[in-house]
Amino acid sequence: MKVARTIAETRSALEDVRDGPIGLVPTMGGLHEGHLSLLRAAREECDTVVMSLFVNPAQFGDEHDLASYPRDEERDLALARDAGVDLVFAPSTEEMYPAGFQTWVEVTEVGSRLEGAFRPGHFRGVATVVLKLFSVVRPDRAYFGQKDAQQVAVIRQMIRDLALDVDLRVLPTVRDGDGLALSSRNALLTTEERKRALALPRALATKDLTAARALLARSNGLDVDYVEVAEFDPPVLAGAVRVGSVRLIDNVVLEGDSK
Ligand code: PAF
Repeated sequence: MKVARTIAETRSALEDVRDGPIGLVPTMGGLHEGHLSLLRAAREECDTVVMSLFVNPAQFGDEHDLASYPRDEERDLALARDAGVDLVFAPSTEEMYPAGFQTWVEVTEVGSRLEGAFRPGHFRGVATVVLKLFSVVRPDRAYFGQKDAQQVAVIRQMIRDLALDVDLRVLPTVRDGDGLALSSRNALLTTEERKRALALPRALATKDLTAARALLARSNGLDVDYVEVAEFDPPVLAGAVRVGSVRLIDNVVLEGDSK
């Protein structure tokens, strides 16, 4: 497995493999079974698997959230190697946002509600970095988790609007045995906070907006940002809560297949 730190290195490493499909799994590290399911799917479907590893400052509104985001590159690289990744693109912030950077991608409607309303600028940061990753890697397929349903909707819209030549692959949310959706941020929960956080997947599992809201209203020790039905493709019941200093999002698909 090769690790490239620059755009030039990445492009040159991919020069000779363009005759077969290239799969990209964009990550911010903190790899868990959800990421591994994306890497496995990419490994099955593509000749070359590229994983990006970049904690994207542009999608964090809050300095504390960015500073506390779990980072363990050595562990992430070992997991990527085990998953059969061919190339990891792990750039510096300066490589992705060089001095004078001023071009941003805004998916205006899809990106402005739910998460977009609570985290202004978040999806602008996501769309911009994902477009840049697409430009660097030029993947045939890009893999994302249904866990971030609105992120998927934003990227789907961007691909459509900008006629990007990439196939979007979406894999189902992976959950721990207790029902909590896997997230790099789960590592920041105390045992007590984790117990309280379980109210979110339990509420969403009702697949009923009124029941989910009622269940969360009765739950102690967590603040609800929203619980909404979102008409994404597929439609989801989505929610976001804050437990201590950790903000968690989750959703369940209301109909159809999440692939
Ligand atoms: O889902 C994530 O980890 C990030 O939002 C992504 C897609 C890697 C962009 O930074």
